[in-house]
Amino acid sequence: MELYDVMRTTFSAREFTPDPVPDALIAKILDHARFAPSGGNRQGWRVIVVRDPATRQAFVDLTMPSAKRYTAQVALGENPWNTIDPTRADAATIERTSPPSRLVESYVKAPVVLVVCVDLKVVASVDQYLPRVGVISGASIYPFAWNILLAARHEGLAGTITTLPVSEEPKLQALLGLPAHVAVAAVMPLGRAATRLTKLKRKPVAEFATLERWGGTPLPSPAP
Ligand SMILES: Cc1cc2nc3c(=O)[nH]c(=O)nc-3n(C[C@H](O)[C@H](O)[C@H](O)COP(=O)(O)O)c2cc1C
Repeated sequence: MELYDVMRTTFSAREFTPDPVPDALIAKILDHARFAPSGGNRQGWRVIVVRDPATRQAFVDLTMPSAKRYTAQVALGENPWNTIDPTRADAATIERTSPPSRLVESYVKAPVVLVVCVDLKVVASVDQYLPRVGVISGASIYPFAWNILLAARHEGLAGTITTLPVSEEPKLQALLGLPAHVAVAAVMPLGRAATRLTKLKRKPVAEFATLERWGGTPLPSPAP
């Protein structure tokens, strides 16, 4: 596929055909994804290929608490899980909220799930002393995670970067035998998409890019 086509059509697939995804194809995808950048070229990524049904069911169970909160916040018109505006969702409301199946089912329905981890011993987290949530550490792993999905698209596969299970990271670490310094960056269902691609909804350039400073003149969107 042409690069811009891949970039404009790589969507979040959550429903899959039963077609298996062989290890050799996963290895091919990872062999291309590994050219992603990382801070200092430390390449702290690790990938666990999961097919065991019990492990996959555990992903579903571990996703429930965060998916409930996510769904309750969306219902209140909030930006779920943001660290700036406190939620108005109380614990009882969150507990009785049923998340939509699309947030949980793909872990058991996809033919394979990739768990993308990062070894924090080699990540330069230069924002670690700032009084806000860490952002920079993710920059050493998400280019790699996204490369997996771009390569998957090129191979006729699809998947999703999911992070909801990571709110229960200690249980994920115990489940998969991860050392404490290895963080889970994404739990990624992968397979052949069962749904047809629709046009991705994204804001135009002029809505998010400005010249010289925040609030400056918008950078005009290119002509279509
Ligand atoms: C950092 C990150 C975390 C995400 N976490 C989840 C998740 O936990 N579960 C899920 O179903 N989708 C998750 N997604 C997928 C987004 O919901 C998806 O990218 C967005 O809705 C746009 O969908 P589209 O790419 O198909 O247009 C995540 C995406 C990113 C980049």
